[in-house]
Amino acid sequence: MKRKKLIVANWKMNMNLQQASILLHRLHERIQIHKDIEIVLAMSYLHLQPLSLQIDRRKFRQSAQNAYYDDHGPFTGEVSFSMLHDLVHYSLVGHSERRVKFGESLDDVRKKVSAAFRNDVLPILCIGEQKDEHLRQETKQVIHDQLSSALLDLTAEEVAEMVIAYEPVWAISNGTDYHGHDIATPDDAKEMAAYIRLQIESTFGKYAANSVRILYGASVNSENARAFLDADGVDGVLVGGASLNYHEFSGIVNAAYRSLHGLEA
Ligand code: 13P
Repeated sequence: MKRKKLIVANWKMNMNLQQASILLHRLHERIQIHKDIEIVLAMSYLHLQPLSLQIDRRKFRQSAQNAYYDDHGPFTGEVSFSMLHDLVHYSLVGHSERRVKFGESLDDVRKKVSAAFRNDVLPILCIGEQKDEHLRQETKQVIHDQLSSALLDLTAEEVAEMVIAYEPVWAISNGTDYHGHDIATPDDAKEMAAYIRLQIESTFGKYAANSVRILYGASVNSENARAFLDADGVDGVLVGGASLNYHEFSGIVNAAYRSLHGLEA
């Protein structure tokens, strides 16, 4: 049996509530319920509660984009996983924009992954190398370090349940053509998915390595999604820019359906 596909939209810091509500309405109209495709919308804290009243849970699950690792206390301006616990199924953790622009360290990311599990939120752990690391061919070393540190406090059962998104930072938000220079290829995605599973197997065993869901993310759109979704070991995609456009995003869901059912693109 084919594995389910997981499609995650990362809306990032975009749209006021009314615009987000209109986008959700359009997605409801466009996207059918597919039992073998799980669709997750990662939205701002501000949108989570009101859109939870609008969302059709048979079609979509909600995710946060970040949260703080302590459960409560004097952390003005932060939101904890314990506050999100009733509202979301997932949270992104360690997105490259958090690591690079907000200085999140390996330690912060590790504590956030643990805090997510402590509060019954499944982490979608984002890992990926930056452009200079890519040019120095240090990708595997970077992935190894980010992964081993983030998973340090987890059990094999927890790792089996979580999601890991490989997002090469140099290829994020770079447009449409993966034949150009700054876009990773489906072969890169396949190679890194295999590498991530191998590393997980060596620490947590075969079951965790096989069960963990691995996504590819960086400039995925309705044109190139199929090739990434067909790549061996890739369970789905994490979509930024293209997830803000309902034609594009429903096209990506359609590509997942066609990939699962072996239909022509
Ligand atoms: P883009 O799809 O806009 O490249 O963003 C990728 C990303 O960062 C998703 O988390």
